[in-house]
Amino acid sequence: MKTNKFAIFAVVLWVVSALVFGWFFVKGNTAAIEGQRDAIVLQPAERELVLLEMRGLLISTQGILAGLDKKDMAQVAQSARASGMASAADVNPALMSKLPMSFKELGMGVHHAMDEIAQDAEAGKPSADILNKLSNTLTSCVACHAAWQLKSE
Ligand code: HEC
Repeated sequence: MKTNKFAIFAVVLWVVSALVFGWFFVKGNTAAIEGQRDAIVLQPAERELVLLEMRGLLISTQGILAGLDKKDMAQVAQSARASGMASAADVNPALMSKLPMSFKELGMGVHHAMDEIAQDAEAGKPSADILNKLSNTLTSCVACHAAWQLKSE
């Protein structure tokens, strides 16, 4: 009987932990600031990591446009691939749990689109199609920047 109670306690504890983790995974570590974009509160190093990823996205965007301009599809593919899903794969769970769900969705959508642009360039799709995909992808950059800012703890 005693072990039974202990087992139930362990299960309850597990469920509570999972719910708490789930809550943070959806909501993230955020703070509403009157009249401004909501802030995501991160450790200084975590904030730097996200900003580094952002600068990578800008470098990729520039590389894709320069490649399209020169009709250098290898450059387009290489630039896009640098910001693909693989570039986001090493983000640690602690940081992921601080990012709100809508932020993660927008961010992953952009990384996924970068992989698609790389594939399209490799498949020799017309520049206009790639430009169209990049332009659509940039609306996610704009939407996310309008909604969020990053603050250090
Ligand atoms: C999921 C949300 C999100 C998406 C998508 C996103 N960004 Fe950002 N980006 C941010 C936030 C938040 C900041 C920090 C803004 C602040 O704190 O004022 C930022 C900052 C930046 C910075 C400044 C980096 C620095 O060192 O200060 C650049 C450049 C940037 N983003 C480029 C891009 C580009 C290009 C794209 C799309 C290809 C993009 N971002 C997509 C959320 C996003």
